[in-house]
Amino acid sequence: MNKSVKKSFLAAVSLIALSMGTQAFANSEVKLKKIDWQFDGVFGTVDKVSAQRGYQVYKEVCAACHSMNRIAFRNLTELGFSPAEVKSLAASYKVKDGPNDSGDMFERDGLPSDYFVAPFPNEQAAGAGFNGKAPPDLSLIIKARHDGANYVYSLLTGYGQTPPEHYAPIEGTHYNPYFPGGNILMPAPLSDGQVGYADGTKASVDQMSKDVVTFLQWAAEPEMESRKEMGIKVLIYLAIFTGFMYVAKRNLWKKLH
Ligand code: HEC
Repeated sequence: MNKSVKKSFLAAVSLIALSMGTQAFANSEVKLKKIDWQFDGVFGTVDKVSAQRGYQVYKEVCAACHSMNRIAFRNLTELGFSPAEVKSLAASYKVKDGPNDSGDMFERDGLPSDYFVAPFPNEQAAGAGFNGKAPPDLSLIIKARHDGANYVYSLLTGYGQTPPEHYAPIEGTHYNPYFPGGNILMPAPLSDGQVGYADGTKASVDQMSKDVVTFLQWAAEPEMESRKEMGIKVLIYLAIFTGFMYVAKRNLWKKLH
């Protein structure tokens, strides 16, 4: 074998070895459950009815631990809540405001322009019950994790499984194969029938997980629908423009021949 052949042979072998290595690594990770979300794809839209139910799940369950400080009550009108509903919803919260003329902070009823009220006053208080780790803000969680929607869905429905033999429990954590490392500080947040849906939908863990993920997807990317719509309009415009240019080109060259 001459030198360059030998070199490329070695390169090929190491490439194959490398790809086998990553393959093995990928296989050792738990595969996420894949859901056919209505918001997936170029024509995807947010299922507003599901997102409204998801808001209820967030409000009644997740909001006990997780803040969502990028969303204001008035944003909920985008999900189909009426301005009156949003107003009374906001008013059911107490919001810290101030200082007033005498320099004191005070509490008042929430307004539609207020942001969601966080369950804890600060990061330390939030982490106190969880080995010092505060539950993360959920406003952008779907975008902050790889394959976010399927990940959060898998996580929420991933409790209660038998851990593998090599599993080493850590004090204060719960087994969930979808959480990196398998030990999560969040106890299983959902159980069947935990919320009462007004539209009669059965509140199974699976259903509540889908709904809350749809809500969180909307929260993370409220502009998604208008962005996709704009993309489609641009494509239509380009198609028509291409047609015009083609006709113009043919006419021009006909004269020149
Ligand atoms: C009892 C408090 C509590 C409740 C209720 C709760 N969580 Fe959590 N959650 C936590 C804690 C604590 C963590 C941090 C876990 C960790 O890092 O080990 C967490 C982490 C998470 C994460 C991030 C996981 C990651 O990859 O870092 C997501 C997503 C999440 N929770 C979603 C939810 C949703 C959705 C609900 C409502 C259905 C909910 N949680 C209800 C305490 C809670």
